[in-house]
Amino acid sequence: WPSFAEEIDAILELKRQRRAVILAHNYQTPEIFHCVADIVGDSLALAREAMSVEADVILLAGVHFMAETAKLLNPSKTVLIPDTEAGCSLAESITPADIRGLRAAHPGVPVVTYVNTSAAVKAESDICCTSGNVRKIVEGLGVPRVILLPDEYLAQNVARETGVEVITWNGHCEVHERFTPADIRQLREGHPGVIVLAHPECPPDVVAEADFAGSTAMMNDFVAQKRPASVALITECSMSDNLAAQYPEVGFVRPCNLCPHMKRITLPGIRAALQEMRHEVTIAPEIADRARRAVERMLAI
Ligand code: 13P
Ligand code: SF4
Repeated sequence: WPSFAEEIDAILELKRQRRAVILAHNYQTPEIFHCVADIVGDSLALAREAMSVEADVILLAGVHFMAETAKLLNPSKTVLIPDTEAGCSLAESITPADIRGLRAAHPGVPVVTYVNTSAAVKAESDICCTSGNVRKIVEGLGVPRVILLPDEYLAQNVARETGVEVITWNGHCEVHERFTPADIRQLREGHPGVIVLAHPECPPDVVAEADFAGSTAMMNDFVAQKRPASVALITECSMSDNLAAQYPEVGFVRPCNLCPHMKRITLPGIRAALQEMRHEVTIAPEIADRARRAVERMLAI
């Protein structure tokens, strides 16, 4: 089998040949995040960066909804995802028909859709949000009630922070729903003084036990600015691995859960994707135009 170094060299060469850039989410493994990615970040940053890519090819090292968002925002580029099965439990929890049903049940209430959804679901929405801007989007609408889908816990966390009434759906992130308040209490006992940062996809009782809740980029910024002696990131495992390599003076306690979808992306998969120019992400024009509008409205706020 080729070594990591051989895979990395081959990918760097293929990127040059194909005029490709690699956008990688914060949950990608360190060899992808630190050695082959051109741009790294949370869902919001990857969407913003995708818009201004000038290269011919965008390879998305992340999950399918992220690749679709890149294609929506930069439609003339070839967007590749190394594994078409890299999905997301949230994206799978809701269909366009479900949104139409909710609209009919709550006429006039705006539909805010988390980016962790298919383009077809985005197309039924008024505006999108990510974990990095959800509060701003919900407050910015200036209405007392919103439909916020499909992550029930994210919606409950935002409702508590903003006072806006939220109609939600029963989608959950299979990684973050597994954390419990008892996990946090236990790690505080074992690591006195540890600072606990939780992702807002965690259940509200978990977020309530944390010192801070925010998107993966917000966790990154917190560690970069405060350099805590000891920190626990209540999220996917690669997050701590990637930050630990950047901040050796910070001690990372690691009570993490793996995302099986993010972990489908590997160096050999990226190499094969660039070699064979697969798997290209396409979106039907009648869906793309409406979905793009919802994402662009989000980016304009
Ligand atoms: P972020 O937008 O915070 O990076 O989250 C994306 C995701 O999939 C979290 O589970
Ligand atoms: Fe989806 Fe959760 Fe995996 Fe993020 S971590 S891609 S929300 S299943």
